[in-house]
Amino acid sequence: MEFSVKSGSPEKQRSACVVVGVFEPRRLSQVAEQLDKVSEGYLSNILRRGDLEGKAGQTLLLHNVPNILSERVLLVGCGKERELDERQYKKIIGKTISTLNDTGAMEAVCFLSELHVKGRDTYWKVRHAVEAAHEHLYTFDSLKSHREEPRRPLRKLVFNVPTRRELPVGEKAVTHGLAVAKGVNTCRDAANMPPNICTPIYLAEQAELLAEQYDNLTVERIDEAQMENLGMNAYLAVSRGSENPAMMALMHYQGAKNDSAPIILIGKGLTFDSGGISIKPSENMDEMKYDMGGAAGVLGAMHALAELQLPINVIGILAGCENMPDGKAYRPGDIIRSMSGQTIEVLNTDAEGRMVLCDVLTYVERYNPESVVDVATLTGACVIALGPHATGLLSNHNPLAHELLNASEQSGDRAWRLPLWDEYQSMIDSPFADMQNIGGRPAGTITAACFLSRFAKKYHWAHLDVAGTAWRGGKEKGSTGRPVPMLTQFLLGRASEQSS
Ligand code: BES
Ligand code: MN
Ligand code: ZN
Repeated sequence: MEFSVKSGSPEKQRSACVVVGVFEPRRLSQVAEQLDKVSEGYLSNILRRGDLEGKAGQTLLLHNVPNILSERVLLVGCGKERELDERQYKKIIGKTISTLNDTGAMEAVCFLSELHVKGRDTYWKVRHAVEAAHEHLYTFDSLKSHREEPRRPLRKLVFNVPTRRELPVGEKAVTHGLAVAKGVNTCRDAANMPPNICTPIYLAEQAELLAEQYDNLTVERIDEAQMENLGMNAYLAVSRGSENPAMMALMHYQGAKNDSAPIILIGKGLTFDSGGISIKPSENMDEMKYDMGGAAGVLGAMHALAELQLPINVIGILAGCENMPDGKAYRPGDIIRSMSGQTIEVLNTDAEGRMVLCDVLTYVERYNPESVVDVATLTGACVIALGPHATGLLSNHNPLAHELLNASEQSGDRAWRLPLWDEYQSMIDSPFADMQNIGGRPAGTITAACFLSRFAKKYHWAHLDVAGTAWRGGKEKGSTGRPVPMLTQFLLGRASEQSS
């Protein structure tokens, strides 16, 4: 779908549809009032008859409104004017998109981007409208035999901004919104793919497909034999029970002219996590295909980054692996020497994400990274702590943590910081090795991060636990595309720092 911005008055649009807001109770927005005046009270008459209360998400499609050049006017309920916040705004944009898709209108001019949203400017409103539109249109049906496609889908949506002066900012918002949306879709496609198709090699192939589209993006594969030579024994231990070989895909994005220190993004890519010998209960086990959500998030963020061509150097790593029970599988009790030299006593083979990530954290030391952010569906405890709304954030560097929190606030892709105090470290002390791979039930998200922190001492590091946010279960099952918006925002922030 195509998006653009313009600045004009609603009655002068020659479009298949103009979209304007109505507040509760039955109050026309400023733009709707303009249409009402030109049409000699046509809209206010309809409201008086009680056909639209203005509740958020209500819609009413009108044809042949007097003295209006457009074929249709879509009235969209926006709730109480004072209560229009970010969530409400995205909801009404989504509703607008699906309503337009059901009409015959293939293009529309939307004035909802002129509504007042608490604390947000035109840039934010246009960008999030573009993102919300994509979010709403997304489907994953490539594996269905019969696909349903709208008869006359919406093809072009124009957002109106109040003044011509705001056109450049609106255009920038469309560009940024489109890049984030592409990244989010890439992430969702990869994550939704079933585990018999989406294997560690498939993840590397997706990275390579992306790299074909951009000159300054290249992919390097590290296979099991290379991991063996590198001494990545913790990573390999997890993979031992699987017939699908592990594969690490390194995506090198060269955006800066110089060889300035890269930002590194690492994604946990467990294409299926059965738990291994410490096998999981069978209920909802299918959802463990989403245990590569971190890798999908990194793939998506790399897509957005390449789309934006930001002037920074970034390496995205997809740490692909599968955790299965087998005669060759690693077992509880095993002691493994990690790439760092530190030994790990395995007490639960289901705490595999940290085993994979710890070796990747050691591996990236060779790049002298500016900072390292790992993204992982790491702990069920994070779902208990924060639920589906916030990503868990833990870091060894306060400025980096704040940068990421700001990015999450700005992008509407929320994160919440948990402490990484030294007091928690002793919970993973082992009687026989340098550490054990679990810390017991209390503070499970924090002890998992403590484990990782022992491998991330040489650089600024942050860890995003997306166990609760990367996908939705139940009736609305599917990848959310998180934390692509937050990561993209973080990179946008880094890029503007470098260019100013
Ligand atoms: N991938 C899971 C974490 C997970 C579980 C994410 C459920 C989302 C929903 C991870 O590998 C895991 O199994 N973690 C264990 C750790 C435990 C054994 C210390 C967990 O959280 O139960
Ligand atoms: Mn597990
Ligand atoms: Zn896992």
